[in-house]
Amino acid sequence: MSLKERIQAIDRRAVLRGMVNVIWAAPVALGLGQFLKFLRFEPPTEQATRFTLGSPGSFTTFPVYLESGQVWLFQDSGGYYAVDAICTHLGCTVYAQPDSSFQCRCHGSQFAADGRVLVGPATVPLRFLQLSWDGGRLVVDRALQVDPSVRLSA
Ligand code: FES
Repeated sequence: MSLKERIQAIDRRAVLRGMVNVIWAAPVALGLGQFLKFLRFEPPTEQATRFTLGSPGSFTTFPVYLESGQVWLFQDSGGYYAVDAICTHLGCTVYAQPDSSFQCRCHGSQFAADGRVLVGPATVPLRFLQLSWDGGRLVVDRALQVDPSVRLSA
């Protein structure tokens, strides 16, 4: 075997060895990465319940439906209040009516302005949710239910 043939044979062996190393090392590295990711996993903590609705000045009319908090925001002489827009029957969005009552288009439930069920199939009243201020912006907490008479001063 000539010197040139020996060098080519060594180069071929080195290339083959490199390829073999890549073939087994790549899956091991990926597996190790996934294992480390698994070790760092933290289950989600509490689901967010507070949602910023925005500055009241940005709303042109009341009531206004605010998707960010899934609420109807009202304003009257006492201040602001928020009504949960999720129907208590099966979770469709309820729509505020001109008389401040609510209607669900999915199965026809109707709710009074104070959240009481007027027409089923819903049996549970709509919830009034706690509002607060955060730097001039209204924030609703979907986890905190308040009495329908509660208002947040402007
Ligand atoms: Fe509203 Fe059924 S989801 S009436």
